[in-house]
Amino acid sequence: MRVSIVVAVSENGVIGARGGLPWDLPDDQQFFKDLTLGGHIVMGRGTHDSVGRLLPRRTTLIVSRNPEFRVEGAHVFPSFGAAADWARQEGVTELFAVGGASVYAAALPVADRLYLTRVHARVEGETRMPGPSDPGEAGYRLIAEERHPVDARHAHAFTFQTWERDGAPGNTDTATG
Ligand SMILES: NC(=O)c1ccc[n+]([C@@H]2O[C@H](COP(=O)([O-])OP(=O)(O)OC[C@H]3O[C@@H](n4cnc5c(N)ncnc54)[C@H](OP(=O)(O)O)[C@@H]3O)[C@@H](O)[C@H]2O)c1
Repeated sequence: MRVSIVVAVSENGVIGARGGLPWDLPDDQQFFKDLTLGGHIVMGRGTHDSVGRLLPRRTTLIVSRNPEFRVEGAHVFPSFGAAADWARQEGVTELFAVGGASVYAAALPVADRLYLTRVHARVEGETRMPGPSDPGEAGYRLIAEERHPVDARHAHAFTFQTWERDGAPGNTDTATG
């Protein structure tokens, strides 16, 4: 099973402000939707609270240390590792770690792929992306990149980047030595 992180980060490392997203970038939201539709997503209880509902047509795994926590229609786990073990047993091929900060921190050491939207702005916000700002320092390699300009619907330019860790499933470059 591939573990993939999906995150949008500002130039100063911010991912969340006042419990929500610090920006409104419809084409990034569409990218997220296209990527995860029909798949399995794992999020922290805080991100679930901030979204306020289950995202349709996806299987949602939520991590919480509160053993009483339940959400109808979602699967709740006491740790990221327990969620990933369950997904592996279910035969899931790609598990998307979709935030927030503590889920990213748990996923970073084991993730194979990073779908990183670099938002070209410096913004205020209390939630930051853990780990190095350059994924290359964490053993990832940039495999694809596409820039999106400022336009009438997007106040900030941003760049979609895909990073992959050497030895990740499906990375035949390294699997064959
Ligand atoms: N920019 C982006 O791409 C992006 C993506 C997602 C979220 N966000 C933003 O990030 C913010 C929310 O993130 P957050 O960091 O505050 O919260 P979070 O990581 O979503 O949730 C934190 C809670 O999740 C549970 N949890 C997290 N890691 C756990 C682990 N390893 N084991 C067990 N339980 C764990 C705990 O719940 P209990 O307290 O119930 O034990 C913890 O209090 C919001 O502002 C949101 O908009 C941004």
